[in-house]
Amino acid sequence: MATGQSVLLIIGGGVAAYKSLLLIRLLKTAGIGVRVVLTRGGAQFVTPLSVGALSGEKVFTDLFDLTDEAEMGHIQLSRAADLVVAAPATADLMARMAAGMADDLATTLLLATDKDVLIAPAMNVRMWEHAATQANLATLRARGVAVVGPDAGDMACGEYGPGRMAEPEAIMAAIRTALAGTPRDLAGRRIVVTSGPTHEPIDPVRYIANRSSGKQGQAIAAALAARGAEVVLVSGPVGLDPPPGVETRGVGTAREMLAATLAALPADAVVCAAAVADYRVADAADQKLKKADGAGRTLTLVENPDILATVSTLPGGERPRLVVGFAAETQDVLAYAGAKRTRKGCDWIVANDVSQGVFGGDDNRVTLIDAQGSEDWPKMGKDAVAAKLAERIATALS
Ligand code: C5P
Repeated sequence: MATGQSVLLIIGGGVAAYKSLLLIRLLKTAGIGVRVVLTRGGAQFVTPLSVGALSGEKVFTDLFDLTDEAEMGHIQLSRAADLVVAAPATADLMARMAAGMADDLATTLLLATDKDVLIAPAMNVRMWEHAATQANLATLRARGVAVVGPDAGDMACGEYGPGRMAEPEAIMAAIRTALAGTPRDLAGRRIVVTSGPTHEPIDPVRYIANRSSGKQGQAIAAALAARGAEVVLVSGPVGLDPPPGVETRGVGTAREMLAATLAALPADAVVCAAAVADYRVADAADQKLKKADGAGRTLTLVENPDILATVSTLPGGERPRLVVGFAAETQDVLAYAGAKRTRKGCDWIVANDVSQGVFGGDDNRVTLIDAQGSEDWPKMGKDAVAAKLAERIATALS
């Protein structure tokens, strides 16, 4: 049955393009309209004839003159759909998207659209892992582009690893999520999120820090804002652009983070995702410390205030209704994280095992612990963890 929804599907030039033919069938079966744009490369792998037969629509290629009165203009084509999907999204297409190029029909549409964009990357494993592609991916994600896959496995080129396009069913699930849209069920709620590391000075040029990238905290702030919450992000020093739609207050030390967090209250909820330094140097030097030949140096550390515990134990009327902490553990994750929840007095703990490259990465595998018990979430992107957590927060505050 027709849903009235439609997708603009851009098929890039990769072996995986054959899977996009199956995707067209899945979309049609689900009653979702699909108009297809074939890039020049895409047309090397699947023909306009087969795409047209499956979609039941005219297929657009660079051969059509979209400025012609008789044709649909590219701006209109990019906006008539509810969602733009690029599958397969090749390394080249991702690079041109990240650079904002508009040198063919597909990139012109991607630049001109006012709709959400979902990409299903597919490429050789080394191309996927190349710093250039990963930087482009980070840029696209930061701009709100949703990403599904790639999967790891045997590749057509004979190599093994991540780079295979997600299966059509998985892309279909991501399309359904994107088309469902985000409910504005946190409108009218104020939520404070702490994020990133803290820097604890040793002297004016040196500091103690940790490996937190701030990606998970920023994703949470963005996901809460997307649901309509008024979000204050109290962020330690990170190399990320502040998320749009969020009020970001930058801080350096744990004590500054505590002051900024308390100043942002009252709030309905506080999410402490920051990796706060447990200790600071007792007597940070005003001048740069000099090396004394042969002699060691001892730094005396004193404990920092615990922001999560402080907020959790605020008196009745001042305590936010929901306080969420994180627990980054490298062993006995559930036991340590559960104990942390009780000790600090927060309502939920999002526990994760950081022994396997979570810091700075785009994926996370977490367990949500509350007073009732714990729930394992499968490994997913930090954006997806954030979206799921925001959904839970919305339910808890409703
Ligand atoms: O004790 P631990 O650092 O493992 O606790 C982690 C949780 O506590 C995180 O939610 C973190 O943001 C928060 N925390 C804090 N202030 C500190 C230390 C940790 O808010 N000084």
